[in-house]
Formats: sequence, C-alpha cells, structure tokens
Amino acid sequence: MKSLREILIEGAQKKTAIGHFNFSDLTAFRAIADASRELSLPVMVGLSEGERTAVSPKTAAALVSAARAEGVHIFLNADHTHSLDAAKIAAEAGFDEIIFDASRLPYEENLQQTIDAVRELKKINPELLIEGELGFIGANSQVLDVVPEESRRFTDPAQAAEFCKATGIDVLAPAVGTMHGMVRAMVSGNEHKHLDIPRIKQLSDFTGLPITLHGGSGTEDSDFVAGIEAGLRIVHVNTELRLAWREGMQQSLDELPNEIAPYKLMKNSYVRIKEIVSARLKLFNQIPY
Ligand code: 13P
Repeated sequence: MKSLREILIEGAQKKTAIGHFNFSDLTAFRAIADASRELSLPVMVGLSEGERTAVSPKTAAALVSAARAEGVHIFLNADHTHSLDAAKIAAEAGFDEIIFDASRLPYEENLQQTIDAVRELKKINPELLIEGELGFIGANSQVLDVVPEESRRFTDPAQAAEFCKATGIDVLAPAVGTMHGMVRAMVSGNEHKHLDIPRIKQLSDFTGLPITLHGGSGTEDSDFVAGIEAGLRIVHVNTELRLAWREGMQQSLDELPNEIAPYKLMKNSYVRIKEIVSARLKLFNQIPY
C-alpha cells in the first residue's frame, strides 16, 4: 500500500485531493471504508479529541488495520489535537497523520508549540505526517446560527511560509474561506461556502507543502475543483456526515417504531453517509458522477 506522503505527492501531479471524513461510530466508519473500497480510491478517516472519547485511539487504529487487511486504502488522522500529550497517544497508537492545532494561540506561541510538537512526535514515528494550523477555521462541526466573524480573516501566505519553514510541518491547514460547521441556509442548499482560490495557489507556491481544506461541508462543488487545482491535497468533511447520520436515524425511528436492533436502525444512516462520501471522493478525484 502506498504511504500517505506518496498519495499527497501523486495528488500534486494528478491534481486530486484525498477525502478526509470524521467518524465516531462503527456505522460511519463502515460507510466511509465501503465507499473507498467500492471506488478503489484512497481515503482518510479522522477523529477529533472529542470523537476520540467515543472511539479510543487504539480502537481506531485496530479498525483501520482491519480495513486495510480487507483491501481498503485507508489512513488514520488525529484531527485537531490541542495538547502534546494527546498527540503522543495518537502517535504511539500508529496514526498516519496528526493535526497539531495551536491556532487559537497568538502566532509566536502557535509557532513554538508546533516546533516542539514536530520534534517530539517525529521521535515516536519519523514517518508520521504532522499538520500545523494557521488562522481561524472554527472548532465545531455543527449546525450554526451565523458564520463566525473570525472566519473572514484569511491566512497570510508570507507568514505561512515562515511558519512552515520554522516548524518543519509536513502539511498546512490555513483559513481560506471555510469554517467548521454549516449555517442553516447551507444545510438547505440555499447558500454555499466559497474559497479564496488565488490565496490557496499562493499558499501552495510559498510553502511548497500540501494544503488541507478544513470545514469542507457546504462548499460549492466548483470551488472544490478550483481549490484542488490550486493546491488543496486533503479535504475534510464532517458536518454533512453528522447530519446524514441523524437524518438516517430519524427516518428509521419513524419507519420502524417497534424495532430495537441497533444494526437495523443504523441502516439508513449508513446508506446516507456512504452516498455523501462516494460523491465527494469522486469529485475530489476528478471522476464524473
Ligand atoms: P465540516 O464539519 O465543516 O465539514 O469540517 C470538518 C473538518 O474540517 C474537520 O477537521
């Protein structure tokens, strides 16, 4: 199986991005893995610190290892990890990537903490990819009332170049137009997130690193395509899957009022999540759908 680093290099040549989907239960994990296997496309699964309270790092690593044994080209990411201790636990469990996220701190502190994290985590596993974050991209994959004001401040490419060089990170997560979560008008499809494409191109050129798009839910399809052309190599989607999980469960509860078997009640969530993951994977890999 190719490494995640190789997949990202290949993405730069082919102008594709790997889809990254969060999970916190077996239904979403199976839906993501099955979509990836059926399309023969690589995929990343990720767990935030909160999601890791539902699926422990060791359990997630075991699930990924079992899916790989079944032929799925799947990688495991520790999404938005705010402390070095939590990052070390993920590194020791065998994660492929860790997002060390000190972006809430003032620039100098983010810089220093990320330098320390790269040094310590690479001692545990030199092959581990470490993503650093610069700029505000929100914290919650939820349905929001308003777009947070801070998400309108985008990452400066010159500062990003300095940050990447000084920290030695492998991947950069900047603010380029998205934030975690969706406002209601996005859930109904009346509004979409839009990307600052020239900035993505500059960030890619100035840093020379793969760029990750966080907050992918609700982004206009054509913006995804142009963003990938400009340098996005990983695209994160979570809120859309959480909504699909909930709506699928609601449908099951309405249709099957006497059913109590969890695996039967989960079926509609599985189908809805898999549909979204399949569509996104095709879009990110330039496959018509
Ligand atoms: P969305 O929930 O907006 O898709 O963002 C997900 C994300 O970026 C997780 O890191």
